[in-house]
Amino acid sequence: MLRVLFCGFNNDTVFFVSICINGALLLAYTKKMRFDVVSLFPQMFPGPLQDGVTGRALRNGVLEIYSHNLRDWGLNQYHQVDDTPYGGGAGMVIRPEPVFAAVESLQEQGDKAMVVMMTPQGKKLSAKLAQKLAGEKRIIILSGRYEGFDERIREELVDYEVSIGDYVLSGGELPALVFIDAVSRFVPKVLGDETSALTDSFSDGLLEHPHYTKPAEFRGKKVPEVLLSGNHKAIDDWRKKESIKRTKERRQDLLQSE
Ligand code: 6GU
Repeated sequence: MLRVLFCGFNNDTVFFVSICINGALLLAYTKKMRFDVVSLFPQMFPGPLQDGVTGRALRNGVLEIYSHNLRDWGLNQYHQVDDTPYGGGAGMVIRPEPVFAAVESLQEQGDKAMVVMMTPQGKKLSAKLAQKLAGEKRIIILSGRYEGFDERIREELVDYEVSIGDYVLSGGELPALVFIDAVSRFVPKVLGDETSALTDSFSDGLLEHPHYTKPAEFRGKKVPEVLLSGNHKAIDDWRKKESIKRTKERRQDLLQSE
C-alpha cells in the first residue's frame, strides 16, 4: 500500500501525492462526489458518516456532504414549511415553495445536480442503483418528514425517488444516510485499494462466503481445513461454492433475477 503524503482538492478533483517503495513520488487524481441534503433535521448529517471509510473520504475530500435546513427557505416569520392536506385527513404535507426555493438556490452553486427524494414509495435501493448514481458528480437529496411532500415537488423537481426497503421510518434522514453510504462505496478512492465494492455481497449477485480469522480452533469449532492449506485455487473454489450455497439457502430470489 502506498503512503499518501499529501492530498488537496479543487472544485471537482482530488490530488494525492504518494511515495513509492523506490522513493519515487506518484501523483494521482480522482473525481470527487458532492451530496447536498435538504432536511428539517440538518444536524443528523454527516453524523455516522464521519467514521470509518466514509469519514476518511470526507477528510480526503473525495466526498463532500453539505447539510441544509429546509426552514431556511421557509415562508413568513415562522419559516413555515408544511401545511394541512387539501381534501382533509391526518398529518401535514411539505409545501412546494420552500423546496423549490431550496433546490433552485442549490442548483446555482456548483455543478448541475441530480435530485433524489427519499420516500417509502420510491424505487428500492440496490447495489445496481447505488453504482449507477455513483457516476453523478453531484446529488441533491430531499429528506422529508410528516405525511410527505406536495406532489408538484415530485413532478417538477425530482429525478429519482428512492426507498431503502419495505417498512416505514419516521423521516427520510436515516434513509438519506444509508443512501449516501451505499452510493459512496462505488465512488473511486472511497474504499481503500484493498477492498472493492464490486466484490461485496450483491454486486456480483451473490451473498458473501463465510469469513474466518484466528484462532484456528475455538471452543472445539475448527476453521475449514482448505482455508489453512495455502492453496489459492482451492480456496477460491471453496469460497465461490459457499457463496452459491448461501445464496441458494437464504436468497433464492437473487439467483432467479439473473
Ligand atoms: Cl426513503 N423514507 C421513510 N420515511 N421511510 C422509509 C424509507 C424512506 N425507505 C424505507 N422506509
